[in-house]
Amino acid sequence: MTVTDFEGRPAEVNEYHVDWDVSAAEKGGYDYFMLKEIAEQPRAVADTLLGRIGTDGRLHLDEMRIADRELREVDKVVIVACGTANHAGMIAKYAIEHWAGLPCEVELAHEFRYRDAILSPTTLVIAISQSGETMDTLMAVRHAREQKAKLLAVCNVNGSTLPRECDGVLYTHAGPEIAVASTKAFLTQLVAVYLIALYLAQVRGTKWGDEVFAMIQLLERMPEKVDKVLETMEPVRELARSLANERCVLFLGRHVGFPVALEGALKLKELAYMHAEGFAAGELKHGPIALIEEGLPVVVIVPPRARDVLHDKIVSNIQEIRARGARTIVIAEEGDESVEPYADTLIRLPAVPTLLQPLVATVPLQVFACELATAKGHDVDQPRNLAKSVTVE
Ligand code: G6P
Repeated sequence: MTVTDFEGRPAEVNEYHVDWDVSAAEKGGYDYFMLKEIAEQPRAVADTLLGRIGTDGRLHLDEMRIADRELREVDKVVIVACGTANHAGMIAKYAIEHWAGLPCEVELAHEFRYRDAILSPTTLVIAISQSGETMDTLMAVRHAREQKAKLLAVCNVNGSTLPRECDGVLYTHAGPEIAVASTKAFLTQLVAVYLIALYLAQVRGTKWGDEVFAMIQLLERMPEKVDKVLETMEPVRELARSLANERCVLFLGRHVGFPVALEGALKLKELAYMHAEGFAAGELKHGPIALIEEGLPVVVIVPPRARDVLHDKIVSNIQEIRARGARTIVIAEEGDESVEPYADTLIRLPAVPTLLQPLVATVPLQVFACELATAKGHDVDQPRNLAKSVTVE
């Protein structure tokens, strides 16, 4: 095979190994790609983590390509992304601020571009995109480039435009994602941003090597936790079928549970064409509580008990909405008995650290939306009006 430019001159090509085989792009016995991709998540999470720890026990991101010296000079992180990838960015903010001690802003790529964002050579811009071809995200990156910021891509598609235009890249290795609504790409984006946050912490010395290593070990246990969630999804599917005729579902979360709530609502909009909203639970009293009426299904993501301040606040949020007639669907870690009296339906998650909880808490919401949409007779792989990759602004 020869590759040429439009004038027929041989073009310079960079070779890379495509580690996907044909079966990765087939349904493999599932009715929908989405079902297959949900099921593939434990493996995808494991693949994103593969080969990141060196023999010295330190984290190595081989295509980071931004020198440690430059990363030490970074004084602000700005994350740009759209759709589901933006929710991964919102979760990244918590990890980057907590582990790396860096201020972090998260912006919808199309909004960022038309704002007078203050960037400098010491700003690290992280662009998250499954496809690497979303025009809004590419334009945001070009805007940041003009202002000389450092650019890092989190991307699933090897050799796509975004990583080519950025200084460094972290590939998510989720394998091809064919269903329009993102599932395994999202979970692997989370793993990628956790790795970036830990890498920044390692390079900048905000966490000791053994602390970074301990977090990596916890991350390495996540595939088995995701697997565990997938094994217990039958009641979630039943619940979804029972709600197929509802007009609206609300989702509430706090801290990293807030972007999870947004993602749960987005999945339901995309697949079931239902009105669904995600809210930060603390915001309830400032408006959304007026929406609560008799029988309204409200999904609440409860943080682990170890984060007691957050946990107790959300338990009282559940009480508030239930007292106003909401049908509460509570997602809480195993052994958390405090939520039992207020949950009409209780979905259990394995116990994991608070920052990593989105990796397990998102899965029931994906299954819920997929099943509810299927019950309504929708094609979950090809929802109406949506494209997998939006290459126009
Ligand atoms: C489209 C898709 C979404 C996706 C978004 C960003 O809107 O329908 O599922 O989250 O683009 O895509 P990207 O490829 O940049 O992650």
